[in-house]
Amino acid sequence: MIYNTREAIMNDASQIAKIYNEGIEDRIATLETNLRNEENVEGWFKGSSGKHKILVIENEDGLVVGWASLNMFNSRCCYSGVADISIYIKRDMRGKGIGKILLKYLIETAKEQEFHKLVLSTFDFNEAGKRLYKSFGFRVVGTYMNHGVLDGKFVNVTIMELLLTRIIE
Ligand SMILES: CC(C)(COP(=O)(O)OP(=O)(O)OC[C@H]1O[C@@H](n2cnc3c(N)ncnc32)[C@H](O)[C@@H]1OP(=O)(O)O)[C@@H](O)C(=O)NCCC(=O)NCCS
Repeated sequence: MIYNTREAIMNDASQIAKIYNEGIEDRIATLETNLRNEENVEGWFKGSSGKHKILVIENEDGLVVGWASLNMFNSRCCYSGVADISIYIKRDMRGKGIGKILLKYLIETAKEQEFHKLVLSTFDFNEAGKRLYKSFGFRVVGTYMNHGVLDGKFVNVTIMELLLTRIIE
């Protein structure tokens, strides 16, 4: 199967919402519990700045099977070079190497947009996520213990980062 990566367009909103909702329902990816609809995603599109790209990966039939985004890390201008990332693959397409293709494209896009660092939060138990990020050189910054509550239980959240430019001494 050949996959195509590209920037998302408004028409992708319903498939993006569907894939995001699978991630929410699976309780493996996010502390978010409110499901999204097409209109919510369209609103996100309209509110996101040019630099903060939303990307998709589609199969040969043009079906979107995953999405990823460069999100604002912090609105203070000193952090404008840092992007917080998200990545979600359609449930029945996970574990087939699609996350790797999409994350590679996300990193290339982040460099083009002149971000100097990517950061992310992942549940400590999200082995697929952690393996994916580590394979691209993300390092574990640390783990917040009992950081969030999901379905009435505390969860630990691990922070990871990838420097895209050399460290300034
Ligand atoms: C996490 C996610 C984006 C990874 O994408 P994917 O397409 O499933 O992963 P890939 O097939 O590209 O594999 C990436 C790495 O994870 C490993 N992996 C994949 N599925 C795995 C699993 N279920 N358990 C452990 N490792 C797994 C692969 O072996 C590979 O590591 P390697 O290069 O060291 O062999 C995807 O599974 C997903 O969307 N999960 C639900 C949403 C989510 O968790 N998003 C991330 C939030 S932080």
